[in-house]
Amino acid sequence: MAYGLGIESSCDETSIAIVRDGRELLSLKVYSQIDSHSPYRGVVPEIASRAHLEKINSLLSVAMEEAGIEFSDLNYVAVTSFPGLVGSLMIGAQLARCISLVYGIPIVAVNHLEAHLAVIGLERELPPFPWLGLLLSGGNSSIYIYKGFGDLQIFADTQDDSLGEAFDKVSAVLDLPYPGGPYLEAKANAYSPIPGEKNPFPKLLKEDGEDLIRFSYSGLKTAVLYYKRENAKSLPIEKIAYYFQKTAFELVTRNLGKAISKTGIRTVVAAGGVLANGTLRDCLEKEKERSRFDLFYPSKKIYCTDNGAMVACLGYHLWKQKSFVGLDFKVSPKRNFEQII
Ligand code: KG4
Repeated sequence: MAYGLGIESSCDETSIAIVRDGRELLSLKVYSQIDSHSPYRGVVPEIASRAHLEKINSLLSVAMEEAGIEFSDLNYVAVTSFPGLVGSLMIGAQLARCISLVYGIPIVAVNHLEAHLAVIGLERELPPFPWLGLLLSGGNSSIYIYKGFGDLQIFADTQDDSLGEAFDKVSAVLDLPYPGGPYLEAKANAYSPIPGEKNPFPKLLKEDGEDLIRFSYSGLKTAVLYYKRENAKSLPIEKIAYYFQKTAFELVTRNLGKAISKTGIRTVVAAGGVLANGTLRDCLEKEKERSRFDLFYPSKKIYCTDNGAMVACLGYHLWKQKSFVGLDFKVSPKRNFEQII
């Protein structure tokens, strides 16, 4: 039996989890900093680091108590080491170093993006590699080729805004609270389109052929802004939210279909904060029927946003591979960072 601690502090969630055998969640504590950042409509790095420092020790105590284990029972300490805000990553890294030093427990340094994909292991047997990893979050609109633990390669990326960023910026344009995703989703769900009605927003990247797979959402954000100006007298917020989602998600499913044909990989794992969106999940399910692939994503929404459980879960597989790092391991803002073990 292996007990693993997962520490996540890469952005605006401070989180600690304890997992048994990479499969069974014993405790998960998440402190969301949203209230501290929302006045600025985005994550302020300095505020994020300070909040991690203030909260992380108490989360650790509560999680250990709930799991009912001692530090000496831990087999590994997994911590997000990249990508993320450096000042924030350092808080989690330092906690991992302390625990490792005091209790002689190996440290496993985890790629945050890979952890978002591997977290499905907490809900089911992992499908065989390779996978296509579809990551849609506040910082990513990307498709990865995931060949095995520690082997994640970028396949398609965004040219500008990520999908989560587009949700957040469009919600700002519509004077909805931050972060915009859940608010825009609620508005979109409240709209019933009139049969035959035209989408006011243009199809994204419609000139791209089968071989070009990329994301771009800044044009859609601008289209919403212009539409708002033209309809300022009586702004149809629900309609805008509905067609914003429809347009944005069409690009996701189109790119996914192209990626499957191009790579021949028919196992898709989708993850990231935007996967909390029910309409996106429905669109992916429909694309799965159309393009015939196996689709997995976390059923629990808490596993979609940043959390320590995903770190502990991936950490287990890396620990089994003996992918440990020394106390002098580095953190990095870069997603193609490689730890020297
Ligand atoms: O993965 P995540 O928690 O962290 C970062 O990447 O920072 O993703 C956060 C993003 C935000 O942009 C937020 O607006 C978006 O996920 N999000 C959603 C929903 N819930 C969160 N987007 C669309 N629909 C949602 N229900």
